[in-house]
Amino acid sequence: MRINNFLMNRRSMRDYRNKSVELDVLDRIKDILKELENEFEEGTFGFKLYENGQLIYNGLEGLAGYSGVMVESPHYIALNLKENDEKTVIYSAYYMEKLVTKLIELDLATCWISVYDVDKNLRKDLFGEWTNEINFILAFGYPRRNHPFSKEPFSERISIEEMVYDNEIGQHITLEYLEQRGLADTFYYLRFAPSIKNLQPWRFIVTNDKVHLLIKCDEDDNPSLVDAGIVMYYFEALQELQGTKNKWSLLDGEFVEGGIKYKYIAEYQL
Ligand SMILES: Cc1cc2nc3c(=O)[nH]c(=O)nc-3n(C[C@H](O)[C@H](O)[C@H](O)COP(=O)(O)O)c2cc1C
Repeated sequence: MRINNFLMNRRSMRDYRNKSVELDVLDRIKDILKELENEFEEGTFGFKLYENGQLIYNGLEGLAGYSGVMVESPHYIALNLKENDEKTVIYSAYYMEKLVTKLIELDLATCWISVYDVDKNLRKDLFGEWTNEINFILAFGYPRRNHPFSKEPFSERISIEEMVYDNEIGQHITLEYLEQRGLADTFYYLRFAPSIKNLQPWRFIVTNDKVHLLIKCDEDDNPSLVDAGIVMYYFEALQELQGTKNKWSLLDGEFVEGGIKYKYIAEYQL
């Protein structure tokens, strides 16, 4: 499926069938995990598949997920970081979301689960000795079929105008201008990227020759670098669909505008 249609239809699944994924499919997934780990600087992060999801669910019930609401699935994949530096956090999320696209291609459904609030020792006990820094895991399995007349759950998205600015934050950009620049479709679909608590903290500044990605910090002035990595993956994929094959380059810097802190994440050459 083309990445634009994929994004529009992508949903987090929180209701799985009580059915294990076939062994040959799990083997294929293990190969995918290795491939993705090796696509980035080797050894900076790793994935591990937990086939016995029940064990993980029992260990995290009441503790992981939003307000301790753990999502139950037949299997989980943990994302382990060797270092907790910005580049590793951003790119490990980039590849975790690439993994999501591969699992959905296998007709599976997924949901990111936040485990950063779970006691560190418990995480080590549960995920094993290889654990260094596990803040997110992925639930996956076969989705429970929706009732044919039930409405698909849909999480609201911000508008392009709330997300994309002309030369500086706050400066309105018109859709006509984005169309002229060949960016209207990319930003239209990009809004469907997933984010923690659906906060959609991504902001973009379009200049003459570049797009800058910034993250709007939360009330504690922290930027969600994971959300940055996810949106960077989709931006590159959507631009590729338009025939542009560039990659993001990471940037440093931050500024405050209207009492809100923004962190510069990366720039993309148009
Ligand atoms: C990094 C990350 C962490 C998330 N953590 C959780 C979680 O702990 N529990 C949960 O139910 N959903 C979690 N989600 C799913 C988001 O809430 C979801 O992507 C967002 O609300 C948009 O909905 P959609 O994915 O269905 O489009 C997470 C998503 C991301 C990207």
